[in-house]
Amino acid sequence: MKISSYTYLIVSFILFCNVFNTYANDLKELYARKADSLVQLMTLAEKIGQLNLLYASKESVDSAFFTMVKEGKVGGVFFAYGLDHVMKIQKYAVQETRLHIPMIFGLDVVNGHRTVFPIGIAQASTWDMELLEKVERTAATEATAEGINWVFAPMVDITRDPRWGRVCESPGEDTWLACRIAEAKIKGFQGTDLALDNTVMACPKHFFAYGAPLAGKDYNTVDMSDRSLFEWYMPPYKAAVDAGAGSVMSSFNDLNGTPAIGNKKLLTGLLRDEWKFDGLIVSDYEAIFELVTYGMAPDLEQSAKIALEAGNDFDMVSRTFLNYLGGLVEKGQVSEETINAAVKRILIAKYRLGLFDDPYKYCNKKREKDDIMRPEFLALAREVVAKSCVLLKNENQTLPIKKDIGSIAVIGPLADARRELFGSNLIGGDPQKGVSILDGIKSKISDGTTINYEKGCNIDDSDISEISKAVAIAKQSDIVVLVLGENENMSGESDSRSNISIPGVQNELARQVIKTGKPCVVIVNGARPLLLTELDSIASSILMAWQGGTQAGNGIADVLFGDYNPSGKLTITFPRNMGQIPIYYNHTSIGRPSRDPKISGKFEDWRSVHIDCPSAPLYPFGYGLSYTTFEYSDVKLTKLVYEANDEIKVSIEVTNVGDRDGEEIVQLYVRDLLAEITRPVKELKGANKIMLKKGETKKVEFTLNTLDLSYYHSDMSYTWDSGDFEIYIGPNSEVTKTGKFTIK
Ligand code: BGC
Repeated sequence: MKISSYTYLIVSFILFCNVFNTYANDLKELYARKADSLVQLMTLAEKIGQLNLLYASKESVDSAFFTMVKEGKVGGVFFAYGLDHVMKIQKYAVQETRLHIPMIFGLDVVNGHRTVFPIGIAQASTWDMELLEKVERTAATEATAEGINWVFAPMVDITRDPRWGRVCESPGEDTWLACRIAEAKIKGFQGTDLALDNTVMACPKHFFAYGAPLAGKDYNTVDMSDRSLFEWYMPPYKAAVDAGAGSVMSSFNDLNGTPAIGNKKLLTGLLRDEWKFDGLIVSDYEAIFELVTYGMAPDLEQSAKIALEAGNDFDMVSRTFLNYLGGLVEKGQVSEETINAAVKRILIAKYRLGLFDDPYKYCNKKREKDDIMRPEFLALAREVVAKSCVLLKNENQTLPIKKDIGSIAVIGPLADARRELFGSNLIGGDPQKGVSILDGIKSKISDGTTINYEKGCNIDDSDISEISKAVAIAKQSDIVVLVLGENENMSGESDSRSNISIPGVQNELARQVIKTGKPCVVIVNGARPLLLTELDSIASSILMAWQGGTQAGNGIADVLFGDYNPSGKLTITFPRNMGQIPIYYNHTSIGRPSRDPKISGKFEDWRSVHIDCPSAPLYPFGYGLSYTTFEYSDVKLTKLVYEANDEIKVSIEVTNVGDRDGEEIVQLYVRDLLAEITRPVKELKGANKIMLKKGETKKVEFTLNTLDLSYYHSDMSYTWDSGDFEIYIGPNSEVTKTGKFTIK
């Protein structure tokens, strides 16, 4: 029989995969055996030392810290970066301790390291998984160049509440999309081989449901049904684990009465036993001793016992493991076997990272010099900024601005800002090296264009004295670019807001400037959905530009002047007013839905509405405009009735009918029309980002199967219903073309 070259290729590929898997499994076993042997040699105190993870920034370490390292009381550190500092700590660990066990070095690399990328919610708005993989590849390259081998990222917490401060790090409200983002980011960080000197071990966080605190208040109670938990909040962590994440961080919050840190059922039962996660679990910062504050442990000793037995291996900062596990073993309250298992998982991570072969593997002076803020990293950051911008409104084609326009008034407290655009998680980034929006605009315009700049007001106070100067320059200019939003302290950990309006007198500045009648483009820099309802009614154009990091100004200017045609789409709903929160697109169907979500409930008797506000959000999930226009054909299905094992193929044609090339994110949503329990009115099940030249048409295909249509039934079995389904394909979650099929 003659084998075609195609078959030959496939067979070779399968053989390669088998050999590779066998190799990977062999390595895992080898590391497990090595770790076992090492554990046999360790004293109880040395083992407990390995479970201790300490904060060790250059400024914070003192002689007491180095004494602890020498005594084998520290297994890992975080916030230590820069080779001199890292090597000093590592030297103490490998040269001064009895068993020479190397240290692991962690850091929060959540949106880049030295090259700062846009915040997580902005990155998500690109819907571009290849790009996000590259972002984390770059972040890993820079972090490893400064001694880091473990990152506390990606953050994959679903959230439906814009008040929550950590919306900025989140992938947004949708589970399917968050799963894809989790996979791409794990791949980017960990690469193909953890032992390479430019890959890092990832740590998806915060397991579990940290993004759903009541009232959007950070660290607050999470109270939800098992179905919501498993259907909406858990899948991104699972996707990260399935993508090979080497570690997971447990979260601060309580869920249905049990703080995550002490939840054995979920940390061990679900994560380790059911999901087969074999990496290490690290607690969040000091979370272990918070079991006492929760009233779940009577004292610190018992909190150590509960947290260890629940499944945590590494104790971040609280030192409760260090201080109490020895005594607990002596009293027979904790078994040494449980400690051995945790130590083993930490040692295996160190083997996988290659630290036992070469503890200084991530300490290459040349790389520290060469692999930081390389021109290609900055170019990538600029591309991500442009691709994360979401065009919310563009009346009369105010955007893009012509580069040879006579004059531009650049106004607003964030127009010449740098630090604010780096967001709340500033660690390795240097705002001095950032590009403000004013800088970005200046670098684009022709010699004949005049720029007039006024700050107009501050971000967050009541001073209106400078507004008149801003109005004066608006009057003298052909167009106004007004830059408004939040500062870096209004989001992030512990920085939730009860009011998500644009702060201070910025709306008043906008009113007065727009009253001049000049075309006005509003750029919003913020870290969450903000209330833009009034601005939407008065500004010609609005561009959501988030917090873009090092290259913010350049990337935004690329969009403003049409060098990049915006393609970003929201991954979280923007409400019309505060009372609508929580508002998200994939809510379940109800018995009395509003008849017309666009009109106020005053006319909607006996319906689920607010009497003073339409049900629809201001901007829905998936929404974002382009400088060109895309037209969607009708939906095509290969069949109307499918067997359960069939692939369900659906397609649509999209045409660029405008006058410039552009990218479109084509979204596929599904609705189960007759189900065992109430189902969402729409669920995202696919997205395809395509490039269309002007006049070009492309066919976009999606394939679904019954797994995509499955959900947790009343007995929590994960399966699908036969019957009718509706599909919706379109440019956002509200504007779609519809098709229908049946599963027999
Ligand atoms: C945060 C984590 C972070 C850790 C270490 C905690 O307060 O919740 O996301 O990784 O600190 O910086």
